[in-house]
Amino acid sequence: MIKYLGSKRRLVPVIEDLLVRSGARTALDLFSGTTRVGRAFKARGARVTALDSTRYAEMLARCYIATDATQVDGDRLTAEVARLNALPGRPGYVTATFCQTARFFQPFNGERIDAVRDDLETRRDDPLFPVLVTSLLEAADRVDSTTGIQMAYLKQWSDRSHKALELRVPDLIDGPGEAVRGDALQMTGSLGSFDLAYLDPPYNQHRYLANYHVWETLVAWDDPEHYGVAQKRIECRDPTAASAFNAKASMPTALRQVVKEVNARVLVLSYNDESWMGLDDLVAACQLRGHVAVLGFDSTRYVGARIGIYDPSGRPVGTPGRLRNVEYLLVAGDEATVEHLVAPYAEARITVDGHQEGVTGGLTAQAGAGDSGHTAGA
Ligand SMILES: C[S@@+](CC[C@H](N)C(=O)[O-])C[C@H]1O[C@@H](n2cnc3c(N)ncnc32)[C@H](O)[C@@H]1O
Repeated sequence: MIKYLGSKRRLVPVIEDLLVRSGARTALDLFSGTTRVGRAFKARGARVTALDSTRYAEMLARCYIATDATQVDGDRLTAEVARLNALPGRPGYVTATFCQTARFFQPFNGERIDAVRDDLETRRDDPLFPVLVTSLLEAADRVDSTTGIQMAYLKQWSDRSHKALELRVPDLIDGPGEAVRGDALQMTGSLGSFDLAYLDPPYNQHRYLANYHVWETLVAWDDPEHYGVAQKRIECRDPTAASAFNAKASMPTALRQVVKEVNARVLVLSYNDESWMGLDDLVAACQLRGHVAVLGFDSTRYVGARIGIYDPSGRPVGTPGRLRNVEYLLVAGDEATVEHLVAPYAEARITVDGHQEGVTGGLTAQAGAGDSGHTAGA
């Protein structure tokens, strides 16, 4: 599983339990990212549709949501992973751009990433293609030199970057599913109907495409023009490609629109107390779907917020932010159903007028790479 800002690693058991208690057989993971939540739903037997706007998230969903493990030739997959692991390195775009100009990976690993990805490019029609690209992406993530976002890389090589790139066989799940790439604002209404929809939109102005531009390039394999210390893809600075969910002015309207348009019996919305919409507004948006219950979970923030970001000469850029926040889960639908779903979480319940009855602790770093040390980037 890749390191990912806003990944619901710690909340998954609760979200998964909501699905189980609802008896849902079909589920939508809107803003799917790593597909961590969609995967949990699928493992619980639901037929899942995952949607995200990025190419790397679509690739992860093609692997973990759309690939039916029962249809995969396990021996061939294992043999392919072994074959790719044995390929000698061959320097290309990744080595030049992300290892020599920027320093996201050590060059000896960059050369192997180049060789494996070039090889896979000749097999785009192979049903194993999304599984093997995902395996490469996860292998690269295990040897990167970042704090978990690609706006910056560490000034000193991370410990894990010294390890050799090693592809592994992804843990596939039985059953069919759908992976969709697109803008939630344009596509939500046409995705079909679901028993339960989980919505996890971005919380701030930081664009996921820019935060994970290396993964986008690894998936697109298109030698893009790049800029800045972090060598980001050129479209990362294109304002027309920005998500409505990454701008303070458009985010509340965009969120209300998807909440309204999604066709589901139960809606679960993730958000936190640092976003542009206050809890009252979030509740009002979800009331478009009926009764609303709010759960709150105390959480440690992303490691970069704690250590700060530094420019290449070591000067601090900005200031480290708050260390903790509250993760909200808003559950909306028919009153009896909603109250049944949240019944085990009385301690985490927050009253709908925003008064906090209790916020349970216990959630820790969401995307922490386990590294400390200053980063260089822009
Ligand atoms: C908070 S993250 C989701 C994390 C995910 N639940 C997980 O556990 O990995 C938000 C996601 O929304 C996606 N996104 C941003 N704007 C979008 C849009 N307009 N339509 C669809 N997806 C979008 C981003 O690419 C990102 O993956």
